[in-house]
Amino acid sequence: MSNRRDFLKTSAALSLPLIVSSTVFGDKAPSERINVGFIGTGNQGMAMLKRFINRDLGNVLAVCDVNEGSLGYKKPDHFYGREPAKKMVEQTAAAKSKSGKPYQCDAYNDFRQVLNRDDIDAVIIVVPDHWHKIISVMALEAGKDVYCEKPLTFSVADGRAMIDAVRKNDRVFQTGSQERSNPVSQFVCEAVKAGKIGPIKKIITKVGFNNMVSPKPGWKPMPVPNTFDYRTWLGPAPELPYHDDRCLYRFRFHYDYSGGQITNFGAHCNDMAHWGMGLDVGGPTEIECEGAGFLPEGSLFNTATETRFRCKYENGVELFCESGSEGVQTRFEGADGWMVTGYRGTYASDLELLAGCPTKPQGVDDPHSAHMANFIDCVKSRQEPAAPVEVGNSSAVLCHIANALIRMYPETGPGYVAKWDAKAEQFIDDDAANKMLIREQRDPWS
Ligand SMILES: NC(=O)c1ccc[n+]([C@@H]2O[C@H](COP(=O)([O-])OP(=O)(O)OC[C@H]3O[C@@H](n4cnc5c(N)ncnc54)[C@H](O)[C@@H]3O)[C@@H](O)[C@H]2O)c1
Repeated sequence: MSNRRDFLKTSAALSLPLIVSSTVFGDKAPSERINVGFIGTGNQGMAMLKRFINRDLGNVLAVCDVNEGSLGYKKPDHFYGREPAKKMVEQTAAAKSKSGKPYQCDAYNDFRQVLNRDDIDAVIIVVPDHWHKIISVMALEAGKDVYCEKPLTFSVADGRAMIDAVRKNDRVFQTGSQERSNPVSQFVCEAVKAGKIGPIKKIITKVGFNNMVSPKPGWKPMPVPNTFDYRTWLGPAPELPYHDDRCLYRFRFHYDYSGGQITNFGAHCNDMAHWGMGLDVGGPTEIECEGAGFLPEGSLFNTATETRFRCKYENGVELFCESGSEGVQTRFEGADGWMVTGYRGTYASDLELLAGCPTKPQGVDDPHSAHMANFIDCVKSRQEPAAPVEVGNSSAVLCHIANALIRMYPETGPGYVAKWDAKAEQFIDDDAANKMLIREQRDPWS
């Protein structure tokens, strides 16, 4: 039976065009250039697309976004969406191409059209969190390998569905937790895991404050831009009137689509906490919200503006996660010293602990690019990538159960300690907290 490599060799000998269906190469082990589709080309999707092309990781045959193209992402002059993405891929590829042949990248509004293409091996999913599970599971069922951004899930139940779909379909799956491919984070987390600071006593993680201003109570709905498929953007989420500050980039400050900075930054710093503890799979046994602030009722954004939660693990380690100006940070305190790593740098109680610590790579070796490169390598080798679905799920679950208690905080106040069964992924004898885990999904996406 011919495989992808044989076919490429034959094509080259016969001077056939190298536009081929991935099914020609056999199902499990494509061994040459990988054909991908990017689903979601906004703030992060566009940045990832640029990195993918700069590192020349494969062929981008398709881009997909429900926004044809518009300003109004993280910064007002960011112009993103499927048409700018298509243009960027085609122009960059043309500029890099030695043959001078035009490069075709198709732009779609509906992600199912990307999944239906036999010539696409893998998809990179960079949409808001409320879409992660649906698109991932459909992609896995369609036989695609998947890279899906963090926070991996929108709810605890999503994680189980995603793990099952990865394992049932025997696909390669990478969570977009790029710290797993950052040599600095690797150095610190592996040092802690190896016992360099002695048994861990306490971990303090930091999540950044909200970086956008919400429309105040009394805000007025806005007309839907004619370049934007708002209905599909909402997908499984409740039907609510359009406002610019609901969608592009700002979705992360709405519980209907995300979980605030606890899930956004928390997916990174709490993943590192689990990594240092050697707890890639699993979770705490108890959790308590120690404080939470919210905007006035009726504001458009509704996630916590600042918060602090505490949880305890079976091994006795206590983890405190709090809002701060550091963005993402994880501090490990052990019996013999401490180590800190995050966006603001890497420190330790003793310089000796940092001997051999690399500097954070830049350019085509930056952690995001390295993480995608690791994914593409694994698509070829069929090995497990740096952040498998179970790893992404554990940090997301921690953030979701924290959010359950944070949302209850205005009623419970401090001192409400919930017991968590990490195996069953349920609060123990706590109907109120378990109810907070349920996320209704609107038809036809339920
Ligand atoms: N790994 C990291 O460090 C990192 C950094 C930033 C964002 N992210 C993650 O990336 C994801 C996207 O965040 P963002 O900041 O790029 O948001 P964004 O709003 O800027 O971009 C999301 C894009 O997805 C599109 N979209 C929404 N629903 C869609 C659908 N059903 N089909 C196709 N396109 C759809 C939107 O129109 C938008 O253009 C989030 O999950 C976020 O947490 C990760």
